[in-house]
Amino acid sequence: MGNIKDLVGKVQFDGDRPIVVPPELQWIGQGRSAVVYRLQGTDLAIKIFYPGYEDLAHVEGEVYEKLNNHEFFPAFYEKGEGYLTMQYVEGITFYDCLVNGVAITDEMVQRVDEALEFACRLGFNPSDTHLKNILLTTDDEVKVIDVVRFTQEFDCPHWRDLKKAYETFYQRRYVPKKIPRFFIEFIIRLYRKRLLPI
Ligand SMILES: Nc1ncnc2c1ncn2[C@@H]1O[C@H](COP(=O)(O)OP(=O)(O)OP(=O)(O)O)[C@@H](O)[C@H]1O
Ligand SMILES: [Mg+2]
Repeated sequence: MGNIKDLVGKVQFDGDRPIVVPPELQWIGQGRSAVVYRLQGTDLAIKIFYPGYEDLAHVEGEVYEKLNNHEFFPAFYEKGEGYLTMQYVEGITFYDCLVNGVAITDEMVQRVDEALEFACRLGFNPSDTHLKNILLTTDDEVKVIDVVRFTQEFDCPHWRDLKKAYETFYQRRYVPKKIPRFFIEFIIRLYRKRLLPI
């Protein structure tokens, strides 16, 4: 995987903005701590942490190693300096399910529960499981990505609250299953400010 290290070394950031990216790297997503690319023509995803967050590669790599390639999570390949390689999961996030009107079923929610329970049994404290950290694959499987905060100690209510919102609102017959992006963002902002009755 020496060439992966070279490729990652060519990526240049301005803060959390990648400004120089080799053409073989196709952007697939970005979050608070990293940007994720697919290596062109492969099923390899490369998560490159922003400057200042490089140490998280080691933390997240260790979590993946303990999860031992369980099907609830993307297969893990390698941790490098400031980056990780893992299976590129073909699919869409639960966030995109809402935007595109793809129904989120009871079974899908249950799969996330099972994944998090599995991680709990290994001694982790699954945290930060939000709409963009869960993928519905093209084979209708569910995979939890972004396990970097599974080692934190404090209680994270995100998944619990999402499930409550699912049961209380989403499942009602008259609630639309396709929700405009601006409205989801508005709800997320209210949630972060603790302005939701949840
Ligand atoms: N293995 C993967 N296969 C497919 N898409 C992925 C994969 N890993 C990440 N992504 C996409 O990239 C996005 C960002 O990745 P990730 O959640 O790991 O970054 P992060 O910076 O740790 O996010 P957060 O803001 O939740 O901390 C995800 O929301 C998802 O859309
Ligand atoms: Mg994420």
